[in-house]
Amino acid sequence: MTRTNGQQSSLDKIATIIENKRTLPGALLPILHDIQHEFGYIPKNALPILAKQLQQTEAEIYGVISFYAHFHLSERGRHTVEICRGEACQAMGSRQLEQAIQGQLGVTYGQTTEDKNITLEPVYCLGNCACSPSIKVGDKTYGRMTAEKFMQLSQELSVYKVSLGEEL
Ligand code: FES
Repeated sequence: MTRTNGQQSSLDKIATIIENKRTLPGALLPILHDIQHEFGYIPKNALPILAKQLQQTEAEIYGVISFYAHFHLSERGRHTVEICRGEACQAMGSRQLEQAIQGQLGVTYGQTTEDKNITLEPVYCLGNCACSPSIKVGDKTYGRMTAEKFMQLSQELSVYKVSLGEEL
């Protein structure tokens, strides 16, 4: 298989990151942090390189990545929207809300919208139960969310992306 220049430079970056930290005790976690910092996620083609260099199996590496919610194996959107699936939120209609939001965005949990603006994730209590149903966008929690309010919010997220180039 021939590799494009982009793929080769990604592989080179991964190899350099591993080389810089592989002798540290417990090297895998700092290496994973560095790779995610570089790419925004852990590219799947990093797994065989990590396995070989750290003398572990790909399954072991995958197990560590999937254990920590912080690590992602696919490209993320500019904003992460978390919908609360906790009991209090469910009692206040979060299941219907999540269906509406998934329909609006055209993605399900763990996926990113086509325009790479929003990644959707579930969460199991945002500590905002009194204002259920709740969602979180980045660091900000929104209570008493409805499909209509989310429609407005997602448009704002889109506008902010284009006009300011900054997080909301
Ligand atoms: S259950 Fe949703 S904020 Fe607590």
